[in-house]
Amino acid sequence: MADPLHNEFPPESIEAKDLRHVLHPTTNLADHQLRGPSVHERAEGVYLWDNRGKQYLEGMAGLWCTALGYGEPELARVAEAQMRQLAYSQLFGGKTNEPSVLLAEKLKAMMPFDAGRVFFGLSGSDANDTQVKLMWYYHNLIGKPEKKKIVSRLGAYHGVTVASGSLTGLPPFHKHFDLPIPNVLHTANPHYYRQAREGETEDDFTTRLANELEALIRAEGPETVAAFIAEPVLGAGGVIVPPDGYYRKIQAVLGKYGVHFIDDEVICGFGRTGNPFGAQTMGIAPTTMSVAKALSSAYLPISAVLVPEWMYEAFVAASSEVGNFAHGFTYSGHPVCSAVALRALELMEEREVFAHAARVGETFQARLAALAEHPLVGNARGKGLIGAVELVADKDEKRSFDTALQVGNHCMDRALEHGLIVRSLGDILALCPPLVITDTQVDELFTKLERALDETLAYVQREG
Ligand SMILES: Cc1ncc(COP(=O)(O)O)c(C=O)c1O
Repeated sequence: MADPLHNEFPPESIEAKDLRHVLHPTTNLADHQLRGPSVHERAEGVYLWDNRGKQYLEGMAGLWCTALGYGEPELARVAEAQMRQLAYSQLFGGKTNEPSVLLAEKLKAMMPFDAGRVFFGLSGSDANDTQVKLMWYYHNLIGKPEKKKIVSRLGAYHGVTVASGSLTGLPPFHKHFDLPIPNVLHTANPHYYRQAREGETEDDFTTRLANELEALIRAEGPETVAAFIAEPVLGAGGVIVPPDGYYRKIQAVLGKYGVHFIDDEVICGFGRTGNPFGAQTMGIAPTTMSVAKALSSAYLPISAVLVPEWMYEAFVAASSEVGNFAHGFTYSGHPVCSAVALRALELMEEREVFAHAARVGETFQARLAALAEHPLVGNARGKGLIGAVELVADKDEKRSFDTALQVGNHCMDRALEHGLIVRSLGDILALCPPLVITDTQVDELFTKLERALDETLAYVQREG
């Protein structure tokens, strides 16, 4: 492409160079060429500064990940020490390194289920790709090669690689990418506010969803369905908090047909929902689990897939037939990423971050719930330190705004203007601050958000 369409940035500025050189992930590329980037320059605690010196309260923990906040000297110290001692090593061919082994031990000890083995990757997407492959591999090894289908949910977000992007249930991640791949199915999500039928109670609603899942499994043939994957609280799909009892009913169906539960804790893991794991908040008994993001507080990329020992035993038993367990990444068990993640988990423990997050989460949820009174807010929902408000044109009818109005984006921009980072998911505004946020900072967050909402109300009134 020639020069950016319109921009006033000096040619040698980072903004202009960005516009010339970078292909941005999950970005409206045409808008980006018009508006230009915002350049993040430094960050400390829950605050971030752009290259014009403007300060923002980080209301989204980056991409739901910077749990311990920014600028933690202890993590920088550990990274430097590990880089000096052993900057790289690997886990292929039976080699190992101390940080990875100790991290695996630590993770297993934290788990809310009987995890046997830990497989390391670098992102939530690769973790969920690994989940799919391990389910397929396992069922081939135990002589059930037809048991391959994975049921995900519409509105789910599990990543963007070929398998995880297929699990994701958001149409833009499929369209023109030739996804989803075969063997991935999507069932309804538990968004009571949007999906409940006229007169349906929460209990009726969750019973219907469990029945629909059962009908899907039966229609496909239970012998063909390997696993169900779920984020305990759906994140990028709009911070959807399932009604009480939902997972109990879903698990009863899965149990009946021998379908495993892949628990995607990439957002919910490590204190986000008021407990160490979303599984505990929502009452899930996982078969396997994916973690990433807060695992290292996003200081370095790392993910992990935890599987039960019986699955590992099947992999071991296959060695005489297959030779190597032929799955792994160059950076599986990267010693620097592992050392930083291990120290991040230790800091969470030493500083009682989960208890802090649960306590501040109460302030956060109270302020969030109060936003339901705002004329624009049709629904305010959340758990712990994650939440969202859904903006509607008519609260009684739950009528959405004309998408051309870009109401969510407008509100996000107003919030930015007031020095608050939130994320618009259509007309849903998501909030997910670092877990170390204080009550006072929660106040600051909501005061800024309220101003942005008031200005957005004025905007939609102006636009008629
Ligand atoms: C629940 C969930 N799973 C998986 C992913 C994918 O993680 P990554 O972007 O690290 O590939 C995300 C990312 O937001 C996520 O929210």
